[in-house]
Amino acid sequence: MKFRDLTMEDLDSLVRWRNDPVVTRHLSNRMQLREEAEAWFHKLKANPKIWLKVIIEDGQTIGYAGVESIDEKNRKCELVLVIGESDYWGKGIGKSVLMTMLEYAFDTLHMHRVWAVTARGNDRSERLLKKAGFMQEGIMRETIIIGERFTDLLCYSILEHEYKLI
Ligand SMILES: CC(C)(COP(=O)(O)OP(=O)(O)OC[C@H]1O[C@@H](n2cnc3c(N)ncnc32)[C@H](O)[C@@H]1OP(=O)(O)O)[C@@H](O)C(=O)NCCC(=O)NCCS
Repeated sequence: MKFRDLTMEDLDSLVRWRNDPVVTRHLSNRMQLREEAEAWFHKLKANPKIWLKVIIEDGQTIGYAGVESIDEKNRKCELVLVIGESDYWGKGIGKSVLMTMLEYAFDTLHMHRVWAVTARGNDRSERLLKKAGFMQEGIMRETIIIGERFTDLLCYSILEHEYKLI
C-alpha cells in the first residue's frame, strides 16, 4: 500500500466512489456531484498542513484519506478515510492507512486529540477505529440523513498519551 497526493485528476474516481451504494451505505451524501468534490478539494488544499492522499494498491487508486479540520490552537483534528474499491475491504489496508494518519497527526502536527465520526451501523468502521486505539466518547443523535433516515453519529477520539501507548 502506498500514498500519493490527491489531485484534481482523482476527483472523478472520488465522485464515482461517493455514488457507489455499497461504499456509501453508511456515509452522508456529500460529494456526489463533481462540483461538491471540487469545492472540498480546494478548501482542503488551501491549508498546506492538511494531509490529503489517495491510497494505491496493486498500482490502482482504491480510495482516499484526509487529516481535516486542523485546529492548531486546541491541537485537534479529524480523520476521514474511504476505501472506494470495496474489493479491497477486509485486508488490513484501513488499519495501515489509519496508523499513518495518526503518525502524521501526533508526530508531525503535534496534535493532542484526533477524532473521527462514524454512523451507527458502520460496524466495520467502528471495529477499525477501536483496533487503532480510538475510544467512543459520545453519540450525536439523529444528526445526519443517510438514505432517508436520520442516523446517529458515533464520536470516537484518541489522545496523544493513548497513542504513545500503542
Ligand atoms: C471502513 C473502512 C475504511 C475499513 O477499511 P478496511 O480496509 O476494510 O479495514 P481493515 O481491514 O483494516 O479492518 C476492518 C475490520 O473490520 C472487521 N469487519 C469486517 N466486517 C465487519 C462487520 N460487518 N462487523 C464488524 N467488523 C467487521 C474486519 O474483520 C477487520 O477487523 P479485524 O482486523 O479485527 O479482523 C472501509 O470499509 C471503507 O472505506 N468503507 C466505506 C467508507 C467508510 O465507511 N469509511 C469510514 C467512515 S468513518
